[in-house]
Amino acid sequence: MALLDRPGPRGAALAIRPLASADADELVAFVRRNRDFLAPWEPRRGGRWFTLEGQRARADEAEAARSARAGYAFAITLDGALIGVVELSGVMRGPFRSTHLGYALDEGHGGRGLATRAVAMAVDFAFAEAGLHRVEAAVMPTNARSLGLLARLGFRREGLAERYLEIDGAWRDHVILAVTVEEWARP
Ligand SMILES: CC(C)(COP(=O)(O)OP(=O)(O)OC[C@H]1O[C@@H](n2cnc3c(N)ncnc32)[C@H](O)[C@@H]1OP(=O)(O)O)[C@@H](O)C(=O)NCCC(=O)NCCS
Repeated sequence: MALLDRPGPRGAALAIRPLASADADELVAFVRRNRDFLAPWEPRRGGRWFTLEGQRARADEAEAARSARAGYAFAITLDGALIGVVELSGVMRGPFRSTHLGYALDEGHGGRGLATRAVAMAVDFAFAEAGLHRVEAAVMPTNARSLGLLARLGFRREGLAERYLEIDGAWRDHVILAVTVEEWARP
């Protein structure tokens, strides 16, 4: 059952739901059809990532992280079909109560506001369900679509982290953006 359902374009239902082992088939299809599209924005993936076994392991890890309250990965679905993934990872508790946000949407479903809405649902979950205080995202300065998405949701730019993540084979500078529960006022 979907965690959150919102009417989508032309009545299609956009939802996010916890990523589970049963999603492995759809996940492997997703990473294969978006391989070239996602490559500039992700770590270099080994061959196993593009196999059913690799995606089953990914989903199993997501389930284990959820049980440990260390991370929350969601499938983004449109009328029940997986069209992307949004993830809250590296959850820190104690006085920090923060998480890292990541997301990817099917190239063919881009440019319709679906990713913006799915990410908003995940941030809602972080604050309303997971009891977190801060959601942080790191975006390469060249990733205009991702920066636009976070700006639409009211994320604040905090600064530039140099050589922050190893993406597509090199250590890349990233813009750090964040939102805290006090300022999360999505319509
Ligand atoms: C980043 C990514 C998720 C953004 O996807 P997207 O489809 O551009 O984002 P949205 O679904 O929110 O669509 C926004 C676009 O749809 C348009 N749009 C149409 N209807 C809209 C609506 N109701 N609400 C918001 N935007 C709408 C916007 O104008 C915007 O277009 P623009 O970028 O030309 O300004 C996607 O490009 C992706 O997966 N990229 C590769 C992975 C990646 O970079 N991940 C993030 C790493 S930090």
